[in-house]
Amino acid sequence: MTATVQPDLVEQAKHAAFLLLQGQVDAAAALCCRIQAIDGSVRWLSGFTELLTWVLPKSQLYPLIRALVDAGFANPRSLDLLASAASWAGNPQAARQVMDLERFLAVAPLHGPDDPDLPLLAAELSGDMLDYHPEYRSIRRGWRRKHLEQVDSAVLRRMFDRLRRMALDYVERLPVDPDNPFLRSRPSNFGLLGWGVVADANTHLVSHLHSQSWINGVYYVAVPPVVADADAVDKPGWLRVGPAADYGFTAADGWDERWIQPQPGLVVLMPSHFSHETRPLNRGDERRICVAFELYSQVL
Ligand SMILES: [Fe+2]
Repeated sequence: MTATVQPDLVEQAKHAAFLLLQGQVDAAAALCCRIQAIDGSVRWLSGFTELLTWVLPKSQLYPLIRALVDAGFANPRSLDLLASAASWAGNPQAARQVMDLERFLAVAPLHGPDDPDLPLLAAELSGDMLDYHPEYRSIRRGWRRKHLEQVDSAVLRRMFDRLRRMALDYVERLPVDPDNPFLRSRPSNFGLLGWGVVADANTHLVSHLHSQSWINGVYYVAVPPVVADADAVDKPGWLRVGPAADYGFTAADGWDERWIQPQPGLVVLMPSHFSHETRPLNRGDERRICVAFELYSQVL
């Protein structure tokens, strides 16, 4: 099963690529934005890229994609394509401009491991879980509970208040750089949503990005002891931020990677165009519990 992308949207995306190839950058960006308003997953961008790469070698796409992004079609999938096009063009500096882990990845504790809300959250998040792993989602063999921000729960409200403060502080600390396509695409107002994820020995997330937000993050609530084994070769339950293996990019292309060891109370924040994945715990019957969340553009 795959997520359905309407065939007519793919055809419209190909038309947008045709406009871009003709030098009609503003018209191409406007059409892409109209398609995005219909299908915010932006999965249809594959049709756009398919047509471009049918006409031109990948090494020549960067100026076109940069022009499209600069014309207003800036979102996690177009930024991912922009960095890819920069690397295909042999320009790692341009790729790193939007993929810079040193500059944009934040890993810090929200609080200590003895925070009194942690056991309350673990109990809250262990209830009402849905078995949720459709193949078009990134989660495999795990449990997910959506829209925690809508749940009437005092401990979840406290959690969201803390996460909102931390995420907005992160946004405020980001540099101002009008030449950076990611930073320039910052929304004016943010909404926050989140979902719980319970992982057992077999659960993992395949490499993915968050196509409908600007920033996303994870907050670790419960972490089994196996995760603390820093010497384990299989990095059980760890988070990897970096290009998916099938991209074939390395640091030499401008794409770094970072492995993050979960700890109770730890928060990871990143731009939503950063690909990331998790490793299964692989052993034991204890569970890792976390909250994934997104800061998205909110129209007031
Ligand atoms: Fe994610």
